[in-house]
Amino acid sequence: MTLSMVKNRFFTLVNCLVRIESLLSYYNLLLVNVGRNVVISKHVKIRGGRNISIGDNTHINAFSFLMAGKRSKIVIGKNCAISYHVHMRTTTPRKEDFLCPSSGTAHKKEMIERSIIIGDNVWIGAYSFIREGVTVGSNTVIGSHSVVTKDIEENSIAFGNPAKPQ
Ligand SMILES: CC(C)(COP(=O)(O)OP(=O)(O)OC[C@H]1O[C@@H](n2cnc3c(N)ncnc32)[C@H](O)[C@@H]1OP(=O)(O)O)[C@@H](O)C(=O)NCCC(=O)NCCS
Repeated sequence: MTLSMVKNRFFTLVNCLVRIESLLSYYNLLLVNVGRNVVISKHVKIRGGRNISIGDNTHINAFSFLMAGKRSKIVIGKNCAISYHVHMRTTTPRKEDFLCPSSGTAHKKEMIERSIIIGDNVWIGAYSFIREGVTVGSNTVIGSHSVVTKDIEENSIAFGNPAKPQ
């Protein structure tokens, strides 16, 4: 087999995987409980769609990633703007599984699962990360590139790593 044939096969495989990834997102998108006038832009990745709900007039912008587990939910309220590349996931590995890998493979162990709740009229700036278990109160702005590790009260502007109300 020549080098160009190997390259060809490699790119065909990558292309195939990208399509499977898109199909998975479309399938999950169908399961999401969406309100009226919801916009989900291109390249948004959704996992665990049946445990995600998005309120009326909310926009999820391109390249964001929403992942809910089987035992946890993502609930996003009405009139929210979730900007580009925002990452929210309700599941995460336990750190102990990596610190003391006693048996089996860490990534196969039970994950932590805690729901994420976003109120109404919330703007989450680009590239922000919302940790599992966090509630962001209504009428709140989360600045771009924030790492939100704890609940944010309603009517606040919060940003930074870790995000703190200003
Ligand atoms: C949070 C935000 C709305 C604050 O805007 P603002 O009130 O005009 O803030 P200012 O520019 O007056 O900044 C106030 C201070 O906070 C700091 N700051 C503002 N946003 C910050 C952020 N995301 N992370 C860290 N620090 C931030 C500024 O550096 C400034 O610090 P200083 O007082 O030491 O000079 C804005 O910075 C932001 O992050 N907007 C989101 C932008 C975005 O994601 N757009 C994508 C299109 S949807």
